[in-house]
Amino acid sequence: MTSYKDLGLVNTKDMFAKAIKGGFAIPAYNFNNMEQMQAIIQACVETKSPVILQVSAGARKYANSNLLRNMARGAVEYAHELGCDIPIVLHLDHGDSFELCKDCIESGFSSVMIDGSHLSYEDNVALTKKVCDFAHSQKAYVTVEGELGVLAGVEDEVSHEHSNYTQPEEVEDFVKKTGVDSLAISIGTSHGATKFKPEQCTKNADGVLIPPELRFDILEAIEKRIPGFPIVLHGSSSVPVQYTKMIEQFGGKMKDTVGIPEEQLRRAAKSAVCKINIDSDGRLAMTAIIRKVFAENPAEFDPRKYLGPARDELKKLYSHKNKEVLGSAGQA
Ligand code: G3H
Ligand code: 13P
Ligand code: ZN
Repeated sequence: MTSYKDLGLVNTKDMFAKAIKGGFAIPAYNFNNMEQMQAIIQACVETKSPVILQVSAGARKYANSNLLRNMARGAVEYAHELGCDIPIVLHLDHGDSFELCKDCIESGFSSVMIDGSHLSYEDNVALTKKVCDFAHSQKAYVTVEGELGVLAGVEDEVSHEHSNYTQPEEVEDFVKKTGVDSLAISIGTSHGATKFKPEQCTKNADGVLIPPELRFDILEAIEKRIPGFPIVLHGSSSVPVQYTKMIEQFGGKMKDTVGIPEEQLRRAAKSAVCKINIDSDGRLAMTAIIRKVFAENPAEFDPRKYLGPARDELKKLYSHKNKEVLGSAGQA
């Protein structure tokens, strides 16, 4: 049993309270390997931003949970070495069972998501409450994120064809019955790099797909029901055209990619949305740079020569998000 406090991590309680008060959102960046983790910490230290390091079930399988936990401990020491003790949360992304959440809590996670959004309302309440009861009874309080409403989109372990928007009438009851610390909602964001079908979008003068606007009316209705309660947005990558173009330029294939425009995320960050999840943009940035290096230097076979530039680009991307999109820069 390892407590997150022993690793130098914090839970999301204070972070979210400050984010709601200050009208910004905490970045929740997924990581699976050392370079991604280095880029996140470098960017967040440089911009003085609090951060949530997210680990999916797939990441745990890929990277090994012991290694990930110790990387999070390393992240705290690394931030200190870089000169700023930013608050760092280690969070389970899309936990799908009580057992997985319990395992993470006992191995040093300071926050977990239990994603019962695909279950019936009653089963979602029961599962989320069970995780909350366990997480909150730990000596060091572990925070829990629940979800109501279903996001469309496909990633390795998270896949739904259609979205169901969150029903504002349900949120108050859900929060009360479960004791959850934050709530992920569905207002039109979606996982992956193809967030909408082309027929749902319009095209700008350059032929770039422009998605339908997020349902801010639903967000406002939810905020009225649970004023000041921390809201989470998943599926919030912007899918920058510069990266999808670069991937195609250097031999990759990207079909009908479209993300959430930055100005809509900025607007959301000013509301009760206090955690914004971003994974796909990091994948795109890394892939674009690695493809470029290989195309321009076909003889290269030292991983540091392609993972290094990919890491530098990731850092740039995360700094930009913290400063220009989420507003978390300077808030650590
Ligand atoms: O929402 C899902 C995250 O982007 C994690 O994706 O299951 O492929 O690691 P993954
Ligand atoms: P994106 O696929 O839009 O990056 O969303 C990531 C996410 O929601 C992780 O939980
Ligand atoms: Zn997600």
